[in-house]
Amino acid sequence: MLEMWWGLYRLVRSARIGLTRIEAALAKQFAQRPQALERLAQDASVRATRQHNMAADPDESFYLRQYLFWLDQVIEARRYDWQGARVLDLGCGSGRLTLPLAERFAPAGVKEIVGLDVSGPAVAQAEAAAWQAGFQEVITFIVSDALDFLRSSPSGRFQFIACIELLYGLPRYKEILSELGRVITPGGLLFITFRPKYYNLLRMLFQRDAEGFNTVLSGEAGPIYGPSPFNWQTPQEAKRLLDQSGFKAGNVWAIGACSGIPGDPMASIAQPSRLSPEERNTLIDAEIKLAVEMPEAGRYFLIEAIRSGG
Ligand SMILES: C[S@@+](CC[C@H](N)C(=O)[O-])C[C@H]1O[C@@H](n2cnc3c(N)ncnc32)[C@H](O)[C@@H]1O
Repeated sequence: MLEMWWGLYRLVRSARIGLTRIEAALAKQFAQRPQALERLAQDASVRATRQHNMAADPDESFYLRQYLFWLDQVIEARRYDWQGARVLDLGCGSGRLTLPLAERFAPAGVKEIVGLDVSGPAVAQAEAAAWQAGFQEVITFIVSDALDFLRSSPSGRFQFIACIELLYGLPRYKEILSELGRVITPGGLLFITFRPKYYNLLRMLFQRDAEGFNTVLSGEAGPIYGPSPFNWQTPQEAKRLLDQSGFKAGNVWAIGACSGIPGDPMASIAQPSRLSPEERNTLIDAEIKLAVEMPEAGRYFLIEAIRSGG
């Protein structure tokens, strides 16, 4: 009985400390917020994340399982020594990937994991979850624009960088790629997603948007979802972009090759949260099998890339 009350007291206390620290950190960061950051915070993708906790969403958790499946394979195959390494989760949102990264890298001796996002409320959610899980010593959260942060970071700072579902909404994605090539150690590992051109073509057809369809077919970026431009690639184009930024691209995997969340064309085939746990397992098996063979078919494709020169 005493143990139960002690456990409850510790839980409430850590939640209170967490909240106070989050409030203090946010107050500091918002007080110093440059105007550009204010403008960015109005962007559609940032607004969406503010209203939506991706880490807690059952559909998004399903796709997280696929990211982790491939991450675990790569970690296992490459046998890196992570002792003293630094890890960056760029565009971490509400920490969907940041916490699993900490679960994997902290026991392997990683020195620091930085979770960065332009959305203060999303970072606050990530931070609360990280502290609840006891990762306050190893994870540092930062509210910043991705490019500003990269530009202010020393060269070769990170040994592992995750850049998941971020680039496709950023007009300066090529500059971000080039900065990623600078801030990662030679030999370092990048886990990065791109929005498939094929996905955007299907989506434009699904929305009966002929102009958008032609924009996607003939270009690499454009305002297809509203005023701010989005970008898309084929796996070959993404590999070329990575190559130009000093990376050697390896495997490419489709994430969600035949399913989706509302708004995705493939959601009419299957939406993970509407399936039973058994059906979800069947779907994940199918999507893992398709991931290698049809990388372009997914909601995103994931690439593992190594910084040349290691
Ligand atoms: C689709 S969410 C992905 C979040 C996370 N990587 C994940 O997979 O769960 C995209 C994230 O990018 C962030 N974002 C958008 N523009 C950004 C920018 N310029 N700098 C940093 N983060 C940005 C958004 O706030 C949002 O959290």
